[in-house]
Amino acid sequence: MSNYNFIQLRVEEAVGIIELYRSEVLNALNRKMVDEIVEALESYDRNERIRTIVITGNEKAFAAGADIEEMANDDPVTLEKLNQFAVWDKIALVRKPIIAAVNGYALGGGFELVLNCDIIIASEKAMFGFPEVNIGAMPGAGGTQRLTKVIGKTKALEWLWLGETMSAKEAYQLGVINRLVAPEIVFEEAMKFAKRLSKQAPLSLKLIKEAVNKAVDSSLQDGLQLERKNFYLLFGSKDQKEGMKAFIEKRQPNFTGE
Ligand code: CAA
Repeated sequence: MSNYNFIQLRVEEAVGIIELYRSEVLNALNRKMVDEIVEALESYDRNERIRTIVITGNEKAFAAGADIEEMANDDPVTLEKLNQFAVWDKIALVRKPIIAAVNGYALGGGFELVLNCDIIIASEKAMFGFPEVNIGAMPGAGGTQRLTKVIGKTKALEWLWLGETMSAKEAYQLGVINRLVAPEIVFEEAMKFAKRLSKQAPLSLKLIKEAVNKAVDSSLQDGLQLERKNFYLLFGSKDQKEGMKAFIEKRQPNFTGE
C-alpha cells in the first residue's frame, strides 16, 4: 500500500508527519484508515532518515472515534473473524518516538490512538473522551486499559461510564497530556518537540521507550484480550444496535438492557 486514501504523509527534516485526512466525518477511523496509519508508522520506523513521528488531525478533530456507520450492523462473529483490533497492536511495536498533536475532538478510537502515542501535545480546545457507552458499546482498541494505567481506576471509571467529553485542561490536570498550548501553535509545538527529540541519540530513545513501556505494560496484553472479547460481545446486544442506529439517525437512543 503506498497510495493512501485517508491520511497524508510528509517529511520535515527528520520528522515523519502523518495527517489524518477524513475531515468530512471528523476523521472517524474506518478499518482501511487504521491500516493506512499503521502502515505509515511502520514505514517511518524502517526509514533511517526519520528520527521522530508526528500524528495530527485538523482544527476540528484529531479523530472522533471508530467509524460508527462501518460497524453499526456487525455481530460478534464478524468482529472476531475480522479481528480488527489486532492491527492496533502493531502501533506499540513502533520503536521511534510518536508525538500526537491534538486539536478538536479525540474521542473513542481517536483517543485510543492518542493514548498509543508517546508524547501528547494538545490545544486548549482539544476534547478527549470515551463516548462509546452512549451508543451501547465500549472502547475496544485499548482505551479501558491505557486510560486506567494513566489516571487510575476511579477516575477512569467515571470517565468511561459517564461517556462525557473532557476538556484539555482537565486532561492536563490528570496527567494525560504533556503540553497544553494555544490552538494555533499545537502543530508547531509538536514539531519543535519532535525536532528536539530528533537530535537525541536514536538508539537511546528507542531503548528508553522499550524500557518505559515494559514498566507500564506488564499485564496489558491480558487486559487487551479481555477488552476485545467484551467489545465484540456487545455487538450481540440490542442496545448496541439501537445506540449506533440512533447516532446515524441523529436521535436519542432508547436502551432496554438487552
Ligand atoms: N463515526 C462515523 N461518523 C462520524 C463519527 C464516527 N465516530 N463522528 C462523527 N461522524 C460524522 C457525523 O455522522 C457527521 O456526518 P454527516 O455530516 O454525514 O451527518 C459528521 O461526522 C460531522 O459530525 P456531527 O454533525 O455529529 O458534528 P458535531 O460537531 O455536531 O458533533 C461529535 C461532534 C460530538 C464528535 C459527534 O460527531 C459525535 O458524537 N461523534 C461520535 C463520537 C463517538 O461516539 N465516538 C466513539 C465511536 S466508537 C469507538 O471509537 C469504538 C472503539 O473503541 C474503537
